[in-house]
Amino acid sequence: MVDKKDSIWVLNGPNLNLLGLREPDIYGHETLDDIAEMLSERADALGLSIEMRQSNHEGHLIDWLHEAQGAGAKAVLLNAAAYTHTSIAIYDAILAITTPVIEVHLSNPETRESFRSVSWVGKAAHANISGLGAKSYLAALEAAASL
Ligand code: DQA
Repeated sequence: MVDKKDSIWVLNGPNLNLLGLREPDIYGHETLDDIAEMLSERADALGLSIEMRQSNHEGHLIDWLHEAQGAGAKAVLLNAAAYTHTSIAIYDAILAITTPVIEVHLSNPETRESFRSVSWVGKAAHANISGLGAKSYLAALEAAASL
């Protein structure tokens, strides 16, 4: 029998489909596909698999958090983008599941506009990695692998 790999779900919120084009001075030149490829390569080496998703809709992120738990994901890496700063529904969804959630950001929201200093995701998440560009995702994957 072939062992099924533990999966890490990587959930991405609004406007992250435009990565590479969107404010590259803040978010870098890598696309979400580039990040997915980088994560898959590293996950392979760690004996893990990646489930990568993006939506511009809050409810999709909530449904996927529930689904990740149902699917037995080892951890979720969540870049909720602007919903980070506004969504109590996503905060509740993180608290509603036992799967560890690691908050990820490309930029460091703390050093930007003051409204980005509030993170509802961060109040519920297990850990937080920000400010390393696309490498924030890689660092979060390493952290998830070690949980
Ligand atoms: C972001 C930071 C958020 O404040 C912003 O709304 C985003 C991207 C990041 O990855 O740096 O859309 O989550």
